[in-house]
Amino acid sequence: MRQTLVAGNWKLNGSKEVTKQLIEGILGGIGNVKNAEVAVCPPYIYVPQVAELLQASQVAWGGQNMCPQESGAYTGEISVQMLQDFGCKYVIIGHSERRALYAESDQEIAEKFVAAVDAGLIPILCVGELLEQREADETENVIAQQIKAVLDMAGIEKFAHSVIAYEPVWAIGTGKTASPQQAQDVHKFIRDMLQKENAEVAQKLQILYGGSVKPDNAKELFAKEDIDGGLIGGASLTADSFLGICTAAN
Ligand code: PGA
Repeated sequence: MRQTLVAGNWKLNGSKEVTKQLIEGILGGIGNVKNAEVAVCPPYIYVPQVAELLQASQVAWGGQNMCPQESGAYTGEISVQMLQDFGCKYVIIGHSERRALYAESDQEIAEKFVAAVDAGLIPILCVGELLEQREADETENVIAQQIKAVLDMAGIEKFAHSVIAYEPVWAIGTGKTASPQQAQDVHKFIRDMLQKENAEVAQKLQILYGGSVKPDNAKELFAKEDIDGGLIGGASLTADSFLGICTAAN
């Protein structure tokens, strides 16, 4: 049995005050969630604040991105070691917004994946197709290519220390969710692909679904065999909806 994981991706949202209230709200209700792992990924600058507020709790935290280099002349970047310095357990890698808005390539994403795993941080590797790719029946090819780029550089063993998030780009922030069966089909495709490399790693791997997950659709999604939780954007920004999703995963 794979443990369910619900991770909040706050993106570029919040302030010191909002962070405090959101975390307090989550802590107020999370005690009832005993059978799911829960994490939040705030903007970098709020990581120390979140770390302090969550340190005595069951909730983990992570970064939304990272630099594969350890140190040096990389203005504006944050290394894996810096994230670990503040207790991060996870780091989101290759989110579709990073791919689209910051031109992150499969190659760079693979480098980040390797650097995170080597340092002992768990990457949440995001993959997903655009609407036109789905409509052109290209979904599986796109996903396979995104995963293969990482597999080629990292090797299957590193996937034992990672999480994958399937996030169809057309479902992110749009209110359009993939149907549980559409999501399940892609999750199974991913697991089958990795199964060919190493059955044990593939069976243990947590594969999250992301894209307009809400408290009222979470249960049906998480009930599918290969959906092991969610990566939550908009609905992770209020304690009630995030807790609703965590409860659905419980
Ligand atoms: P959403 O975002 O839940 O707002 O669709 C998910 C994500 O981008 O990780």
